[in-house]
Amino acid sequence: MRATSSTAPGKIILFGEHAVVYGQPAIAVPVTHVRAEVRIEPTRGGDSARILAPGVGLDTRVEDLPLSHPLSVALRGVLSACGVAEPLSDIPPFTLTIHSTIPVAGGMGSGAAVSVAVIRAVSAFLGHPLPDEQVNALAYEVEKLHHGTPSGIDNTVITYARPVYFVRGQPIETFTVPTPFTIVIADTGVPSSTAITVGNVRKGWQADPDRFNPWFERVGQLVRAARHAIESGTPRTLGPLMDENHALLQQMGVSSPELDRLVEAARGAGALGAKLSGGGGGGNMIALVEAESAEKVAEALRNAGAVRTIVTEIG
Ligand code: MEV
Repeated sequence: MRATSSTAPGKIILFGEHAVVYGQPAIAVPVTHVRAEVRIEPTRGGDSARILAPGVGLDTRVEDLPLSHPLSVALRGVLSACGVAEPLSDIPPFTLTIHSTIPVAGGMGSGAAVSVAVIRAVSAFLGHPLPDEQVNALAYEVEKLHHGTPSGIDNTVITYARPVYFVRGQPIETFTVPTPFTIVIADTGVPSSTAITVGNVRKGWQADPDRFNPWFERVGQLVRAARHAIESGTPRTLGPLMDENHALLQQMGVSSPELDRLVEAARGAGALGAKLSGGGGGGNMIALVEAESAEKVAEALRNAGAVRTIVTEIG
């Protein structure tokens, strides 16, 4: 067995988070400035497979991982897909090392990117590289641990590393961006728990579906309009759509004072539109900007409390 490595990007949701769990479309794009990287080395004379993730202080034998640990679910899934039988203590000894620059609990897909990189690296190490479709399906099983009802958008955009127009349960649609546009991503520094915000939206929806369903439907209309704007080469018109999407997310109860402050700061510094991105409650927001004002908006966001900003070009 030879050393192998794999890498997967982070992601942001441009439009449609939360409503996507209820069957509406959403648009997500990969962010290649941040990545999860996995390297596997065969261990000569070693007695078992180990996993190291120095960034989060993990150093464990594979068979000591709790069964419900995301890495254990990813590993068992990929081993079974590659025809390697249990128990885990029987797998060829290796050291799997994970490094990630994707902020944890920031809504940028850190967990999904680690899963995708682990599944690809292990399957390649075992001599059975898996097709994207299977990598995506295995990563989705891991996403289910993070919150019970994932739409699947995070693992999909990260597996395919292309802009996706995603509708739960439907064939994956990637699309092209003829006129690139610039986004500033800003991190509130407040950990975001997708499980909590998705759970709260579900409780709200169950208690009062007549209030939530029109919000979800309106988000769906915004997503379709956004796709049309992107594909027809008029990305500037995305700004007001982002603003309205943020207002709907506020009504659903998934924004936070920190996110709202950053959204206001971005608009005040000249952004064309801004919204939270991902699960909300904390984590990241995004702002659409003219390329030449990106640094000014990023600075205003840091002055308003952002712990990190990333300027990225989509397309
Ligand atoms: C999380 O990145 C996006 C949510 O819509 C949840 C999901 O789609 O599974 C909040």
